[in-house]
Amino acid sequence: MKKVVLFASGNGTNVQQIAEYFACRKDIEMSYLFCNKKDAYVLKRAENLGIPFSIINRHSFYDTSEVYAQLQAIQPDLIVLAGFLWLMPTEIVRSFPKKIINIHPALLPKYGGKGMYGHHVHEAVVKNKESVSGISIHYVNEHYDEGDIIFQASCQVLPQDTADDVAAKIHLLEKEHFPKVIDRLLKEQ
Ligand code: GAR
Repeated sequence: MKKVVLFASGNGTNVQQIAEYFACRKDIEMSYLFCNKKDAYVLKRAENLGIPFSIINRHSFYDTSEVYAQLQAIQPDLIVLAGFLWLMPTEIVRSFPKKIINIHPALLPKYGGKGMYGHHVHEAVVKNKESVSGISIHYVNEHYDEGDIIFQASCQVLPQDTADDVAAKIHLLEKEHFPKVIDRLLKEQ
């Protein structure tokens, strides 16, 4: 049984899509979810999906080895950041080389880095009159959005598109590709 551990901060549409994609698979399980916001909707989804979870805070995440120890106990085959907005602690990054991936809602290296997440990305894309945006799935290192890129897919941005329109297109790309990329990475291990 391959184990996937998820990290999320918000709504959790990606968590839901990943969990549903693998729901009928006996070889892959969503073992655990870590969330840094106690009122995030992703927790409701985790409850409905039957994924065990815990809520982390800055102190437990950065000043103690609690999450690291939990990960060591689970021994995940893949750690997936699905809308998780905190930097991974060095101890965790170093202990799971090539096993932590993130999805970013832009074509990195454009529109990456601290503060560039979720709607901020789409607003910047529209403001700069980009004609293309997309998603990047990449390995996680100690810097925001800088690890090696595993996969990218793009979509058109029309002159009349709002940030919400771009967000909708990006969510479709995420739904189509993220679970499949996770599946491929687990198969390749
Ligand atoms: C997703 O669009 C994801 O790409 C983005 O947050 C959204 C989370 O949506 N991630 C980042 O911006 C990371 N820098 P969700 O909670 O509905 O899955």
